[in-house]
Amino acid sequence: MLTIEHLAKHFPGQIALDDVDLEIAAGQIHALVGQNGSGKSTLIKCLAGYHEPTGDAPATFAPPSGGSAVRFDLAGGAAVDRVGIRFVHQDLALVDGMSAAENLALGSGFTTARMGRIRWSAEVARAEAALSDLGFADFDVRLPVGALTPAQKTAVAIARAVAESDDPAKSNVRLLILDEPTASLPGDDVVRLFTALEQLKARGVAILYVSHHLDEIFRIADVVTVLRDGRRVATKPIAELDHGSLIELMIGREMAAVERPPVSITESSRALVVRGLEGGTVRRLDLDVRAGEIVGVAGITGSGREDVVGLIIGQTPSASGSVSVGGQPVPPYRPRAGIAAGMASLPGDRKRLGIVPLLPVADNITLGNVEGHWRRGRLDRNAELHEAREWVERLSIITAGVLAPIGVLSGGNQQKALFARALRMAPGLLVLDEPTHGIDVGAKADIHELLDHAAADGAAVLVATTDTEELVRLTHRVVVMRGGEAVAELSGADLTVASIEHAQLAPEEAIV
Ligand SMILES: Nc1ncnc2c1ncn2[C@@H]1O[C@H](COP(=O)(O)OP(=O)(O)OP(=O)(O)O)[C@@H](O)[C@H]1O
Ligand SMILES: [Mg+2]
Repeated sequence: MLTIEHLAKHFPGQIALDDVDLEIAAGQIHALVGQNGSGKSTLIKCLAGYHEPTGDAPATFAPPSGGSAVRFDLAGGAAVDRVGIRFVHQDLALVDGMSAAENLALGSGFTTARMGRIRWSAEVARAEAALSDLGFADFDVRLPVGALTPAQKTAVAIARAVAESDDPAKSNVRLLILDEPTASLPGDDVVRLFTALEQLKARGVAILYVSHHLDEIFRIADVVTVLRDGRRVATKPIAELDHGSLIELMIGREMAAVERPPVSITESSRALVVRGLEGGTVRRLDLDVRAGEIVGVAGITGSGREDVVGLIIGQTPSASGSVSVGGQPVPPYRPRAGIAAGMASLPGDRKRLGIVPLLPVADNITLGNVEGHWRRGRLDRNAELHEAREWVERLSIITAGVLAPIGVLSGGNQQKALFARALRMAPGLLVLDEPTHGIDVGAKADIHELLDHAAADGAAVLVATTDTEELVRLTHRVVVMRGGEAVAELSGADLTVASIEHAQLAPEEAIV
């Protein structure tokens, strides 16, 4: 269906894509994988006409009616709409101030009545239908998208991409391109997405799918293309690969099994004490995390899991309850009190709450605290940059330099910089929301190791995540939330992917 030849994209100081060829067949799910910064999103943005490729990059697309292929200019974004290529970008590309219904209409055009007036009720009905076709119909499509959860936003972006068009200038979807659509989707939503993708595939739609979750790749992909450092290193049928060989293609080496440092939990020292906490979707939560312990918080969307971190770090208003860190109370909206008590955190919504896109990588890393770099009343910028460079090195953050604006880094590399921001505070307590969201397998293993060592050195770690495998790998104990309360606690031999997933569901759902 689509053929791209010799695609290259050079940025100042960085080659993002180097002579990449790609062929995508109709009715096939083609996975595109590679480490953070390997060029996946850049390839997709070239196809969308957002980036202009460096040099000539011929692309051809099979026309809907058969016959000879349409050649198009990769820098001509408008052409992709005509041939039926649709996108769900990594940052979703939604307009936060507009409602879900309006965001959908931005893609397909508004329904108008006489005098060109927009028929809002029709728009709302259409958006509701599009979302419920996908199995996501649990929110008000008139709310501004900025107020939705990450999973709901993803649903809006997917619904917009697959919506059929009545506009003769646009073709209906024939190639759907999804850049990490499941990065903020909990497991049950991933299942719904896959059902929708299988249906599209059965209709002959081609799908290009980017994900760092290799289990997803093995579940739905027919063919896999691997990028490494901007080059295509392989395209293979999934049947010819297994986890180990795919990882080796991605990172260029085998992944060594890690040895975890011994657990040294001190019974007496409780780093985090939460009592009767209530707010957002959390109805009542009591929680203790001891020094040296890594505790997970699991739960499907709406269970309370999504608000635990915001409540503990004082970012979400709590209706009642208390949080204390290292014995000191941390009231809501007092980030300073939290920092003073030794708490560092990582927000779940990287784009909105994490990065400051136009500030350099260095400032994004150090902005939590620059006190260490004051010299006689002035900020020692060189020392600050030096420290930032050390973190870039330590976490293998791919960037043209510490002065590059963080917004141009690949998603996973932005996440690593936020990790550096939290870890450099040498915190007694780390509170993390979806910490490895968008991070590749190799870097994820590195981050897990860093957390293991932080805990072995006496830090307490609380991790809320939808990634059940991560919970099993990383934590000593998992608290499972349901209906706003902690309903189960799993540890030792009981801590498995299956037991977490089972405990997340209400008893009546779990029977099936
Ligand atoms: N607008 C830009 N300006 C400068 N450099 C850029 C820009 N966009 C991307 N890059 C660089 O190009 C490289 C490839 O980035 P890209 O976003 O394609 O990676 P990716 O494979 O999608 O990674 P991830 O898995 O982290 O999303 C990165 O090193 C990134 O820093
Ligand atoms: Mg990307």
